[in-house]
Amino acid sequence: KRRFRTLRWAWRLGYLSALAGVAYIGYGVYQDRHPDPQVVPDPSKKTLVILGTGWGSVSLLKRLDTENYNVIVISPRNYFLFTPLLPSCTTGTIEHRSIMEPIRTILRAKKASVKFYEAEASSIDPDRKVVRIFDNSEVKGDMTETEVPYDMLVIGVGAENATFGIPGVREHSCFLKEIGDAQNIRKRIMDCVETAAFKDQSPEEIDRLMHMVVVGGGPTGVEFAGELQDFFEEDIKKLVPEISDRFRVTLIEALPNVLPSFSKQLIEYTESTFKEEKINIHTKTMVKKVTDKTVEAEATRPDGSKEKIVFPYGLLVWATGNAVRPVIKDLMDRIPAQKNSRRGLAVNEYLVVQGTRDIWAVGDCAVAGYAPTAQVASQEGNFLARLLNNMAKTEALESKVRELSSTLNLEPGNSAEISRQIEEYERQLRRIKDVKPFHYSHQGSLAYIGSEKAVADVTWFNGNVAAAGGLTYLFWRSAYLSMCFSTRNRLLVINDWIKSKAFGRDLSRE
Ligand code: FAD
Ligand code: NAI
Repeated sequence: KRRFRTLRWAWRLGYLSALAGVAYIGYGVYQDRHPDPQVVPDPSKKTLVILGTGWGSVSLLKRLDTENYNVIVISPRNYFLFTPLLPSCTTGTIEHRSIMEPIRTILRAKKASVKFYEAEASSIDPDRKVVRIFDNSEVKGDMTETEVPYDMLVIGVGAENATFGIPGVREHSCFLKEIGDAQNIRKRIMDCVETAAFKDQSPEEIDRLMHMVVVGGGPTGVEFAGELQDFFEEDIKKLVPEISDRFRVTLIEALPNVLPSFSKQLIEYTESTFKEEKINIHTKTMVKKVTDKTVEAEATRPDGSKEKIVFPYGLLVWATGNAVRPVIKDLMDRIPAQKNSRRGLAVNEYLVVQGTRDIWAVGDCAVAGYAPTAQVASQEGNFLARLLNNMAKTEALESKVRELSSTLNLEPGNSAEISRQIEEYERQLRRIKDVKPFHYSHQGSLAYIGSEKAVADVTWFNGNVAAAGGLTYLFWRSAYLSMCFSTRNRLLVINDWIKSKAFGRDLSRE
């Protein structure tokens, strides 16, 4: 009887927590749909220009007290993209809009209004303190190019795809950085499949079309190869059986192993899982040239001799890491202190661009001594929000102290009270002025490797834990779900996962 009573209480507790969860989500959704009216910023305040709507800039915006500045956001992309789930969009496991959050929604939730210009920054003049911007969208108005002056500037423009000047890469391969890239790949996979199934296609041509080549064995290449193999095993094979034995995925990596940033045991686990999944891995193989139908590479044999290998392909995905954007290169050329920096804007421990005043950089375009990851970019954005909020508070308090000090002689009868107020403001100033330099706290690395398996190098009580397999996959899913930008994104992603599991992925080409 006692056990029954305990069970009943447990059930009630579970029911109440579920109810509280639903109420919490409901309240969040209601708040998003009915935001409070926004304050119009005071024009006498400083103009803070933020470039980009990626991990660094949006993390900054989320925590920035926008009422302290006249904030202007400039980016060619009017949404935030949750990149960790981008590889899942290439096969339709997740629909692209589920991992996008409109910047207008993000900005509407701020206390004071923020201006947004959908434009690309083409150059930054640190002497005149202006950013030159242009409209690179399809629809153009009479005004397509102009300048935006700033008092303070935060650069979070990310990086572009590295090609190392290898001939044919830009013309013939697909990248995997933006939502358009994932859509392109999805279309191209199905185009290859349908073209291979075309009447009287020769066996050699079917082999070529069904050969999917991925260059770069970093996390992007590995996750994409895993997603692709899943798509084939779970859906294409069943629906287009006549070509199913010809489908192959090849991963080419210049270094001796894939996932160089993960621990040895996880590298071995990934490579053996890929072998089981029948993904061919060519390590110590450097791609030298790309044509419309082949990839030419040079492999280093165990005895050190070189061998030329030609891979015919239907789809080629190029994932060899980051390169510096032209607008950043141009700025670096204007600043003598950036002369020796190669991989982006060198910043100090407060993320100030070295050799400048009033310019900060976050994320992949900044060189602060950390890997170019979303984790680093978002922590940098959070840090900068704290710093800028503090700077604004400091200025406000300093001006109050100045004002009170000047009235001290004019109101001798009130001097005790004024001195007490000054002391109080100075005490507050001492407390908030003390912002420690940026310190990155690594939470670990996660990667999906296909067949419902993932690898994780996680920091746990100051130690490192390496985990791999099915349970790690569940951890991967829950971690990424919790990191999604909004409740809306979370619900859409869950819906996509259920949909693709229950009904299979959508094979339509558009
Ligand atoms: P981005 O997020 O790239 O944002 C740059 C912004 O600047 C964009 O809004 C862009 O439109 C805008 N912009 C570009 N040019 C200009 C210009 N000239 N003027 C103004 N604005 C401009 N990291 C992890 O930690 N975990 C992961 O699981 C993970 N998965 C990934 C999966 C993929 C497929 C990829 C490609 C990357 C992944 N990363 C991951 C890395 C992570 O996405 C990047 O490190 C992160 O996006 C960097 O943030 P950022 O703000 O510097 O740049
Ligand atoms: P990367 O820089 O991590 O890896 C690129 C790989 O391409 C390297 O291993 C390099 O040796 C190889 N390569 C370069 N040129 C080559 C050539 N010509 N031929 C063959 N191989 C060549 O790039 P990636 O994977 O795009 O990642 C970029 C950043 O984003 C990294 O910091 C990464 O950690 C992060 N990221 C993290 C993810 C995660 O945590 N799950 C997922 C995706 C990206």
